[in-house]
Amino acid sequence: MPTPDQSPDGLPARAAALRMLDGVLRRGQSLEAAAQGGAHLPPADQGLALAIAGETLRWLPDLDLLIDSATRLPLADDAKARMVLRMALAQKIALNTPDHALVATALPLVDGGPRRLVHGVLGTLLRQGVSVGDAPHLPLIVAERWRRAWGTPMVEAARRAIAHRPPLDLSFKDDEAAHAFAHATSLAPRHARLDRSSNVAELPGFGEGGWWVQDLAASLPARLIPAGATTVLDQCAAPGGKTMQLAAAGHAVTALDRKPSRIARLQQNLDRTGLAAELVTADALTWVPDRTFDAVLVDAPCSSTGTLRRHPEVIYRARPAIIEETVALQTNLLAHAATLVTPGGALVFATCSLEPEEGEAIVEAFLAAHPGFAIDPPKPAELPDFVTPTESGFVRTLPGLIEEQGGLDGFFIARLVAPRD
Ligand SMILES: C[S@@+](CC[C@H](N)C(=O)[O-])C[C@H]1O[C@@H](n2cnc3c(N)ncnc32)[C@H](O)[C@@H]1O
Repeated sequence: MPTPDQSPDGLPARAAALRMLDGVLRRGQSLEAAAQGGAHLPPADQGLALAIAGETLRWLPDLDLLIDSATRLPLADDAKARMVLRMALAQKIALNTPDHALVATALPLVDGGPRRLVHGVLGTLLRQGVSVGDAPHLPLIVAERWRRAWGTPMVEAARRAIAHRPPLDLSFKDDEAAHAFAHATSLAPRHARLDRSSNVAELPGFGEGGWWVQDLAASLPARLIPAGATTVLDQCAAPGGKTMQLAAAGHAVTALDRKPSRIARLQQNLDRTGLAAELVTADALTWVPDRTFDAVLVDAPCSSTGTLRRHPEVIYRARPAIIEETVALQTNLLAHAATLVTPGGALVFATCSLEPEEGEAIVEAFLAAHPGFAIDPPKPAELPDFVTPTESGFVRTLPGLIEEQGGLDGFFIARLVAPRD
């Protein structure tokens, strides 16, 4: 066993993972933002830290059950000892880390603290064998919320969905670019689905910019912009997956976002793909252009719980107070967007959320306050055949949909038509 001043290999990665988890669970950061703290590490350590933090978040309730079964001492939810134990057990369950390595890298993290406790709990669990089910449990509060909204089968499907990273979906600029991936599964026009282990930078055509990574569900909102719309406003546009789809489909796109750094990323994406859009850095809540648009897409910021497969931290960040805040923002964004649509034009509202408050409820409240607008349900040819609009004419994708083909993110989409006068 190394002494505290003999750092075992891999300790910097574990220390970085610990900081990332602190950023996510205590400070409410996204894992991507929290991972910036590890940017000074060599790429292999960064990758390992991210994998440990990600797997810890994926399995958190199950890890806590294991920990609590091995100690009579109540460990606070945010105690460092609990977090170090969670990380060690996540490595055991999901990353095949040898026992000696996970013990040797866990103990130095609690130096000057409950080192004996951590050693004892780990020793007990490793001796008796660490096992969890096939699918992680969801935090009780989330499972109950989704059970009320969508029923038990959806909760079970969400558990299975969070167990693995999803496959890699590509969207193509044109049919010619798609042709290079004709061997891959395609579930919609200009779409290809590849194995989750694919290395993006090594795929053919990356440099030429014929495609970009975009979950299939995230590609659906732009598919609902009517082909006949000449001018389109993409109201919350960065990093630009939907802007690129719209530009590739031939619309004259104005892409707006509040954050200059995100607009810069959108510009890079356009440069790489050779597509064009007018970029505007502004607050969509107050931006008043001198024209209206044939169609407006509101891809609103949200809790992002629909992306739980890629970002398991979303289920911890999406606390009721955060959802309440985004609901107010979504309501205001949609109301302002409605003033920018040409009479008879299309208004598409979308969120990558599994919370009905951030989807169905927003649009129902909007329609009650704007009786001139009406739901324009998607036509069969506009969506893949496995996506059936709800009775209300909305699109709602949930965990469990095309599960055997790799599933897709949770999304809500509604297309409305503006009054003619
Ligand atoms: C869900 S993301 C958009 C993803 C994007 N449509 C895509 O497909 O790549 C939401 C975006 O809304 C932006 N945003 C949030 N509040 C905004 C506001 N008040 N005005 C303009 N943009 C805003 C965020 O910066 C973020 O880039």
